[in-house]
Amino acid sequence: PQLSAEEINEIDEERSHYECDGAAGLEALRIVQRKRGWISDESLRAVSAYLGIAEAELEGLATYYQLLFRSPPGTEVIQLCKSSSCWILGCEQLQADIIEELGIGPGETSTDGIFTLLENPCLGACDRAPVLLMNGELHTHLSGEKLRALLAEKRRRHADQSTD
Ligand code: FES
Repeated sequence: PQLSAEEINEIDEERSHYECDGAAGLEALRIVQRKRGWISDESLRAVSAYLGIAEAELEGLATYYQLLFRSPPGTEVIQLCKSSSCWILGCEQLQADIIEELGIGPGETSTDGIFTLLENPCLGACDRAPVLLMNGELHTHLSGEKLRALLAEKRRRHADQSTD
């Protein structure tokens, strides 16, 4: 689909902060994702045509920034902190628990479409490590048990919603 008037307005607003359109490419992709949930090939082409930036260049940006999705993410996006404090306090084990529970590694989405796992650099809550963000909500002092309870609660909530 073409860019909507609203998307164009927001992109133009961002564009005014940059000297060259190339630098605005990342912001434009973020805007489109915020509106559409992810960046399809058509969306990428629309941004490319509007800003005059090569599709390959935008593709490179979208691949580099893991928070830009080139396929639909799960409704629950897990950002697991992999920096030092969380690493010392067991984030590797948490990641192993996620793989075991959900069958997904970093960058992947569970087959039920609920969870996407991303690795994150420091989330600024080192004193409460290990931590993860789930859809913007911070979960701290995690243990395997706490993590499993959290995943089970999210699953339950989704099951309830789908039977409503
Ligand atoms: Fe994980 Fe800082 S190292 S929050």
